[in-house]
Amino acid sequence: MKAIQYKDFGNSDVIALVEVPKPTIQTPDDILIQVKAASVNPLDFKIRMGYMQKMRPVQLPFTPGLDAAGIVVAVGENVESFKIGDEVIAITMANAYAEYVIANPNFVSFKPQNISFEEATAFAVNIGTAESILFAEGKLQAGQKVLIQGAAGAVGATMVQMAKHAGLYVVATASGQGIDLVKSLGADEVIDYKTQDVTMLVKDVDLVADCAGGPSQDKLFEVIKKGGKLLSIAGLPSQELAQQYQVEARFVSSNLSAKSLENGLKLVKEGNLKGLVTKTFSLAEAAQAQDMVAKGGVNGKVVLTIG
Ligand SMILES: NC(=O)c1ccc[n+]([C@@H]2O[C@H](COP(=O)([O-])OP(=O)(O)OC[C@H]3O[C@@H](n4cnc5c(N)ncnc54)[C@H](OP(=O)(O)O)[C@@H]3O)[C@@H](O)[C@H]2O)c1
Repeated sequence: MKAIQYKDFGNSDVIALVEVPKPTIQTPDDILIQVKAASVNPLDFKIRMGYMQKMRPVQLPFTPGLDAAGIVVAVGENVESFKIGDEVIAITMANAYAEYVIANPNFVSFKPQNISFEEATAFAVNIGTAESILFAEGKLQAGQKVLIQGAAGAVGATMVQMAKHAGLYVVATASGQGIDLVKSLGADEVIDYKTQDVTMLVKDVDLVADCAGGPSQDKLFEVIKKGGKLLSIAGLPSQELAQQYQVEARFVSSNLSAKSLENGLKLVKEGNLKGLVTKTFSLAEAAQAQDMVAKGGVNGKVVLTIG
């Protein structure tokens, strides 16, 4: 089968389209999926650059791809919940930039019928991350106030919608075209992070969900009420500032299990969650796709169409 692989860490020119053996069922819990689409996540280029080797090491040669949407073509003998022909979304954490991938049933969900394979894979990491931050870890309830930093990004845009559906008051930061996007997704207040000072405009939020990271994270402590939280998916928050402002602040690695995707996928089935596939590429164009994500300003998800 065709797959993307790289043998060295580095810029996107290390990426190659290669012929490798098609994976086969190895354990009774395996599900073999014919991949129709795989999303391109920021983590993909960070792994490729070698930046993640301390935190999340991979072995070379490596085939990227955290998630896929496709069709079940074989199942191990323990697998009862899925059968050949089912259309599914799978979190695989690697190997999804390929024509076939193996997944575990705990990380496989049925693809909602009302969306394409491209939209389905694009939702996977976004929904699991939004669910983890807002509800599993953030424990937010209707009426509470959340500030979503980087709200026009792939994760942020899904988070805005899931927060609004849960009855939260949403303050969002974005820039450029992202401002109209997050307004259209229902954000109650939108702050242009390039021209406005968030600390002058917002106060007393229950949770800051930081989907951007970087040096601007530090000033977000000022807008949280005492006893509130700063949960970051991009960078480790300062513990000194957490103490100073009397808030809880930590990095969250999202739960991407099928269970964690349940609420979000229900909203998708009901037509209440807008998919944001900004651009699709072929498998052979994986390098360009990763470059586009690395450059930023995408306002949605970049997806590989495969098979
Ligand atoms: N911990 C986890 O489990 C987990 C899960 C998923 C993703 N992530 C990480 O979370 C981050 C976001 O992922 P993503 O897929 O949503 O990426 P993305 O689509 O690139 O979105 C990032 C967003 O952050 C915005 N941004 C950049 N600098 C900002 C600043 N100073 N203030 C406010 N917003 C700013 C960007 O806006 P502009 O377009 O204006 O630049 C962009 O909309 C990535 O670093 C990713 O690796 C972590």
